[in-house]
Amino acid sequence: MNNATHPQCPVQDNTDKRKSAAIAIENTRPDAGAHWVKKPGLARKILRSTASRQAGASADLVKFDNPEHAPVFFLDGPDHFNKRRKTQRFLSPKAISDQHHVIMNKVTDALLRQFKKQGKAKLEDLSFSLAIEVVGEILGLTNSDQAGRARRIQKVLAASIARSGSSPFSRTMLNLARAYRTGIFFLADVRPAIKARKTNPREDAISVYLAEGYSYIAIVIECLTYGTAGMLTTREFIVMAAWYLFEDESLRERFLSEDVNGQLAVLMEILRLEPVAAMIHRRMYEEVEGLEDTPLPSGEKYGIDIRAANVDEDLAGECPYAVDPDRAKRQQDLGRYLSFGDGPHTCPGWQVALHETRIFLDQLFRVPGITLEREPDISWNAQLGSYELRNADISCEPSA
Ligand code: HEM
Repeated sequence: MNNATHPQCPVQDNTDKRKSAAIAIENTRPDAGAHWVKKPGLARKILRSTASRQAGASADLVKFDNPEHAPVFFLDGPDHFNKRRKTQRFLSPKAISDQHHVIMNKVTDALLRQFKKQGKAKLEDLSFSLAIEVVGEILGLTNSDQAGRARRIQKVLAASIARSGSSPFSRTMLNLARAYRTGIFFLADVRPAIKARKTNPREDAISVYLAEGYSYIAIVIECLTYGTAGMLTTREFIVMAAWYLFEDESLRERFLSEDVNGQLAVLMEILRLEPVAAMIHRRMYEEVEGLEDTPLPSGEKYGIDIRAANVDEDLAGECPYAVDPDRAKRQQDLGRYLSFGDGPHTCPGWQVALHETRIFLDQLFRVPGITLEREPDISWNAQLGSYELRNADISCEPSA
């Protein structure tokens, strides 16, 4: 951690207070054989290059005979472009304001009503319920009972990202567990959604997949991809952003008094310092200059260190460790930095994630007596390469 206050930052406190810094330093490494890219300029160049290929989760080693059965994350080139295009319209700012705002507000209201009744909750449970419902609505997973669906999604996502031990027995057991959980999820949640949309298509991803003639297995794969990418990440980010707002009264007051764009600026600045995805990988099919004295040959793999790039002065400007919601505006930047990746694989759900977080936290911090009773425990999810925040106990004045 950088505990020194930066000499050029007389106004801003440039002390490194990132909550996930210590655990991330301990755990973030490029995959074996990959080069470590920390500078933002080179990171962006690689991510945006037409010669780069997805190499996270060993995507560069897996071959799919049928691109329809490959999660969007695993594809590149025209197959990737075509698959992304199918869901793009459900994730656009227009879809968010016309359609998803309704579900974001509705779920937030329901969760906070229950919280106020009980007077206490675990924040990560609330954030996960919200993330499941919002991404579920975008996909079209809306034809099963909500509580059971949340339970099943939690279990199937846990099984799908779990790593087995090295023995054949452990691998077999994990594969069985995955097949079992996926089967249950399909029967209880995906199949009813498909059945309903066959007769009555709606404005959601499953309706589009059906119109495109996707097989049932391809639909389940997309649901699991969006679940992992959109539910597990947002769950953590909401708790992290809330932790900052609980701790810093002036930041909280600012957040509550800002308009939509001002609130998004606060959230993106927190995410810059505490990116949920620590590192992403690419394989480059051209020479890469700028990392070593001589260009690296084509075919090498690179680990892009989002955390390092986001606090590099070349990207963040001066006082990179300060929480400064005006930073992006001053730099005439959108404020995403590298928190949602960059280039063709950049996060398609970034605006969904920010808006649901904004709506939820705006209402949470207006609950009378809202208090963080216990700071969350911070741990590391090696499968996702991300921090996890648990046991964030919150309380409020119980309502009658
Ligand atoms: C705070 C929450 C989120 C964070 C920090 C986040 C971060 C990221 C990052 C860094 C990537 C790029 C991975 C790479 O380039 O290798 C990514 C990809 C992706 N994200 Fe997000 N994400 C979030 C929320 C969401 C949401 C809400 C959705 C869906 C509604 C979503 C769907 C996806 C998908 C499908 C991909 C793969 C895209 C592709 O490979 O073309 N994410 N996300």
